[in-house]
Amino acid sequence: MIQILNILEGYPVTVYGHNSAKSIHLMAEAMKRAYADRSLYLGDEDFVKVPLKKLTSKEYATVLRQNIDNEKATPSSAISPGKFLPYESNETTHFSIADKFGNAVSNTYTINFSYGSGIVVEGAGFLLNNEMDDFSAKPGVPNAYGLTGGEANKIEPNKRMLSSMSPTIVKRNGKNFLVTGSPGGSRIITTTLQVLMNVIDHGLNIQSAVAAPRIHHQWLPDELRIEEGLSPDTLRVLRERGHKVQQKAAMGASQSILIKNGIMTGGADPRRSTAFAAGL
Ligand code: DON
Repeated sequence: MIQILNILEGYPVTVYGHNSAKSIHLMAEAMKRAYADRSLYLGDEDFVKVPLKKLTSKEYATVLRQNIDNEKATPSSAISPGKFLPYESNETTHFSIADKFGNAVSNTYTINFSYGSGIVVEGAGFLLNNEMDDFSAKPGVPNAYGLTGGEANKIEPNKRMLSSMSPTIVKRNGKNFLVTGSPGGSRIITTTLQVLMNVIDHGLNIQSAVAAPRIHHQWLPDELRIEEGLSPDTLRVLRERGHKVQQKAAMGASQSILIKNGIMTGGADPRRSTAFAAGL
């Protein structure tokens, strides 16, 4: 009922009048769309997960309303239950994969910001990125991540913009040992660095290595950016040494694998709700 009401909310049904053809037309159009969803999604919630939030959201009603023809009935055969896409992270993603033979893939990919440049390629259904921001537009002018640059990274035909993406495979005795990488814009390099250091220099297991609080400095702005969770004593000492310590949002999301003595362990970064480590 809420779904139908949400759809009808977009029309001045009072003006159209009680049981007028116009009102009934719109009511019927809203009803058949809601019932199509009912056929697929509704059932005992002790058994099935009903996407109630989505079905009753105003946004979804707006989408449904968009393909209602104000004059003509849409045949039921042209209406199917809504397809709800699973949650998708809105920016850069990293995954690490290794197989039983020790082969490994470290992959970071990006459209830069949420929805890239906001342009969908007609007929193809994918978004164009906005990687142009990774060029330096003008000497000394920071990009969205606060990175500055000059000549070397200026915009030129056929040139690739600078990227911080650092998909990494560390080898030990010629064999893949650590597979890692991260999203996070300018923080990618320092995030990945700390995963490496946490494992190699500090002996942390892979999950602790990706979860441990991180720090970041990118020259400009001159601040030592930190995550929550560092000891107050450490921060006091750093401030005494002249560091401008700034606690900001969590950085990166490093999905990593450690391969040691033939055993693989995965570290899923708790900073992203969709992080996942699995052996298949
Ligand atoms: O290639 C780069 O350095 C950027 N386009 C990465 C952007 C990024 O990681 C955004 N997400 N978290």
